[in-house]
Amino acid sequence: MTEPAPGPDPGDLGRHSSWRNWCSLAGAIVATGSLFAFFFLFTLDMTGSGRSNPYLGILSYVVAPAFLASGLALVFIGWWRQRRELARLRGLGEPAPLAIDLSRGRDRRILAVFITGSFVYLLLTAIGSYQTYIYTESDSFCGMVCHSAMGPELTEYRRNAHARVACVDCHVGQGAANYIDAKINGVHQLYAITFNAFPRPIPTPIHNLRPARETCEKCHWPERHSGNLERTLPRFLADEANTPYTVRLLLMVGGSDKEHGKPSGIHWHTGKDTKVEYVASDPQRQTIPWVRVTDSTGTVTTYRNKGFKGEPDPAAIRQMDCIDCHNRPAHRYSSPNDAVDEALDLRRIDSTLPSIKRNAVDLLTQAYATKAEGESKIASGLRAKYPGRQIDDSVQAVVAVYRANFFPEMKADWSKYPENIGHMDNAGCFRCHDGKHVSDNGRPMPATECNSCHVILAQGAGAELAKMAPNGVAFKHPSTEIDGLGLICSDCHNGKNQDN
Ligand code: HEC
Ligand code: HEC
Ligand code: HEC
Ligand code: HEC
Ligand code: HEC
Ligand code: HEC
Repeated sequence: MTEPAPGPDPGDLGRHSSWRNWCSLAGAIVATGSLFAFFFLFTLDMTGSGRSNPYLGILSYVVAPAFLASGLALVFIGWWRQRRELARLRGLGEPAPLAIDLSRGRDRRILAVFITGSFVYLLLTAIGSYQTYIYTESDSFCGMVCHSAMGPELTEYRRNAHARVACVDCHVGQGAANYIDAKINGVHQLYAITFNAFPRPIPTPIHNLRPARETCEKCHWPERHSGNLERTLPRFLADEANTPYTVRLLLMVGGSDKEHGKPSGIHWHTGKDTKVEYVASDPQRQTIPWVRVTDSTGTVTTYRNKGFKGEPDPAAIRQMDCIDCHNRPAHRYSSPNDAVDEALDLRRIDSTLPSIKRNAVDLLTQAYATKAEGESKIASGLRAKYPGRQIDDSVQAVVAVYRANFFPEMKADWSKYPENIGHMDNAGCFRCHDGKHVSDNGRPMPATECNSCHVILAQGAGAELAKMAPNGVAFKHPSTEIDGLGLICSDCHNGKNQDN
């Protein structure tokens, strides 16, 4: 039998001095410091004086709360250890159980302080964690804290139709599970950024990107019937006069839902009761040797490239969704040809300068080690071509094209991130509709005729462009005869040759 020793209550004594230890003291200093820092940064953020600085958010809503929490943890660890230690020194073995006696004034005061303190702490945590949530989902967190790595994506994003759509709406998707997934993944990315251990260019496709159903289709109603869309694509030849060579297309975008129109056209692929699956033989999904279609009646047809024998690995099969065509909805890097044509069309570049199209594209297709080097060599190269002429605006416009589309430090540009809409600069639709995919019973894949996806309403310049041909005209290719070569457009228009 062990009777409690008479004398002062050991629990009371312990409580009195258990807080006095180095660990708790250090914790208290850290916690108080970070609490002040949090309030200071929080005020800055609320008053907007630090808005422009993306690091402010990470300090106030990630770093300061982390320090506060670890400070408080230290205080309690110190207290707990000290309490055990004191009990051991007094020969009690285990410390006496905590007892609160509300009839004692001191206990009541301590309890009141404890409850108020906890309440304030919980409130702050709630505000803080909500702000942390908002902040870590913000575009500045995604795009600017990882500035060097994701700078190119942020730059392109700001110029696109989705400039007002948050990064996370496409990259994370909705729901707590997706949020946690993304943050776990983010820890790895933070490590990669801190130790400069990320690949350049950042590889795509992103394999853990949520399916379009959970991202794009939260805003875009897949049943929508788009019908035919007219697109005017202003082009200029690489001749001395920079001759305009515009193409007006009527694209049969159509739709895929029979409730809202006849399922047909370009958007047919992603219908509710049709399924298009494929296998790509390269990581960027640019070469597609095997395609399988299940139509609305359940009939399955498989198309293969001549070289592809046997059956693909089931794990490699991907079901086509929005992102297989719209793979650059937010980060579109223009090719030099596209960007110079656009700048000529908008009269940013002076089209009266002889051969400016060719010269500008030529300078933009050279390799430069850094952005600064590119900008200065393009400017001086262009000036050297037009001695004695006032070309400041045109020089600025070409440098702006370079700045917006080329990121040598990150090795990012249009050739590293091929866009799959269309077929001129990249294989795009012709990855499947190239006329070389044949079904098992010998039927070629449909939609390979030039009029299957669009008709060319008009082509050329000036009055010619106003002459619309409702049934379409055959495409007149400039200068080069392309028929019968067995080539697809992107075999030549791949940016490796300054002429195209
Ligand atoms: C409209 C949807 C959308 C928005 C908004 C969006 N992205 Fe993307 N992003 C994509 C798609 C689609 C890809 C390519 C995915 C694939 O092919 O796997 C991509 C790719 C990327 C890549 C990989 C490298 C590359 O360029 O392919 C990075 C990095 C990236 N996005 C960062 C961001 C950042 C930072 C933001 C916000 C500033 C953002 N994204 C906003 C859709 C979006
Ligand atoms: C948070 C909502 C949202 C999400 C998510 C979203 N979009 Fe959009 N998207 C929009 C809005 C809004 C517009 C129209 C912008 C405008 O016209 O101002 C748009 C426009 C477009 C356009 C027309 C672009 C153009 O240049 O005219 C395409 C194509 C498109 N989105 C595809 C996608 C794809 C593919 C995804 C998934 C990777 C996606 N969107 C995700 C809201 C969204
Ligand atoms: C087979 C390729 C393909 C697939 C798959 C695809 N699209 Fe498109 N989409 C196109 C093309 C091509 C256009 C018109 C080209 C252009 O905008 O220059 C277009 C146009 C659009 C537009 C603009 C249409 C308008 O009415 O203004 C939106 C928005 C869009 N697509 C969203 C989607 C969404 C969402 C999905 C997935 C449910 C999807 N697309 C799947 C090829 C595709
Ligand atoms: C992954 C392969 C693949 C890609 C990439 C692809 N398609 Fe298709 N497309 C198909 C298949 C398969 C069919 C249906 C073949 C059949 O009917 O058996 C089809 C059918 C079509 C049709 C006929 C739809 C109808 O009315 O029945 C059009 C138009 C079309 N595609 C346009 C495009 C365009 C434009 C692009 C590029 C933006 C594109 N496709 C990219 C596989 C693809
Ligand atoms: C599988 C569908 C499909 C087929 C087949 C197809 N096209 Fe296209 N074409 C497209 C799409 C999609 C675009 C892109 C429109 C855009 O950029 O918005 C396009 C764009 C073009 C452009 C404009 C290029 C530019 O950027 O200036 C020309 C010219 C063109 N096609 C000619 C042809 C010719 C010639 C053929 C026959 C050899 C053909 N197309 C076959 C889908 C197709
Ligand atoms: C044998 C190589 C070759 C093939 C294949 C080819 N092109 Fe071209 N293309 C050229 C050359 C070279 C020029 C430059 C002519 C100039 O600008 O003076 C050119 C110019 C053009 C232009 C006008 C100016 C420009 O560069 O923007 C368009 C539009 C065009 N091609 C579209 C296409 C389409 C669409 C296809 C596929 C149906 C195609 N080309 C296939 C070599 C080719």
